[in-house]
Amino acid sequence: MSVKLAIFYYSSTGTNHQLAQWAAEAAREAGAEVRIRKVQELAPESAIEQNPAWKEHYEATKNEPVATLEDLEWADAYIFSVPTRFGNVPSQMKQFLDTTGGLWAEGKLANKVVSAMSSAQNPHGGQEQTILALYTTFMHWGAIIAAPGYTDPSIFAGGGNPYGTSVTVDQDGNMKEDVKEAVRHQAKRTVQVAQWLKKGMQ
Ligand SMILES: Cc1cc2nc3c(=O)[nH]c(=O)nc-3n(C[C@H](O)[C@H](O)[C@H](O)COP(=O)(O)O)c2cc1C
Repeated sequence: MSVKLAIFYYSSTGTNHQLAQWAAEAAREAGAEVRIRKVQELAPESAIEQNPAWKEHYEATKNEPVATLEDLEWADAYIFSVPTRFGNVPSQMKQFLDTTGGLWAEGKLANKVVSAMSSAQNPHGGQEQTILALYTTFMHWGAIIAAPGYTDPSIFAGGGNPYGTSVTVDQDGNMKEDVKEAVRHQAKRTVQVAQWLKKGMQ
């Protein structure tokens, strides 16, 4: 029984885009049907223009599919990936979450299996807080949070965040910790928990 996984991300300069790609690759290896969806960019063109890395990533991902409510309804499981913004969720992702009231009211977000990832410029710049802020919304949905905990050695190697994989990026956009395996483990675990649930609900 194949699990449908939707990966929702926001990324200005490519980090969370990369995390989303690694997660998708691992989830597909685990047998999931995967959609990767960026959330709609809301920043004015003038802001994007001022940052060459942002502009470059914006142009490179211009034609990637944008997240819709149908994607949320379609999937059994979700992975969210966002950069921290002052220790919180970027407004682009928050706006998408704030359009889910109708689905929530119909109970259509209940029992979805979900986990989240993040990035920040500083090792203690708010990654954990950002993931927990996402989880607060998911709890309101009645979703089932499949946090990685310390269920695999890759989590320790990637910096040891049990809430969800997170990474530090320097000003040139280089990832400071090697988190690829932690991302892959988190994706496979999210798919596995969704599979257990799907079988159990048959
Ligand atoms: C408005 C704004 C606020 C930010 N706030 C923080 C912060 O609170 N802590 C931190 O370490 N980095 C902060 N950053 C840095 C971003 O988190 C970092 O650029 C991002 O994780 C890179 O991810 P991306 O390549 O997917 O965009 C901030 C960046 C911006 C533009």
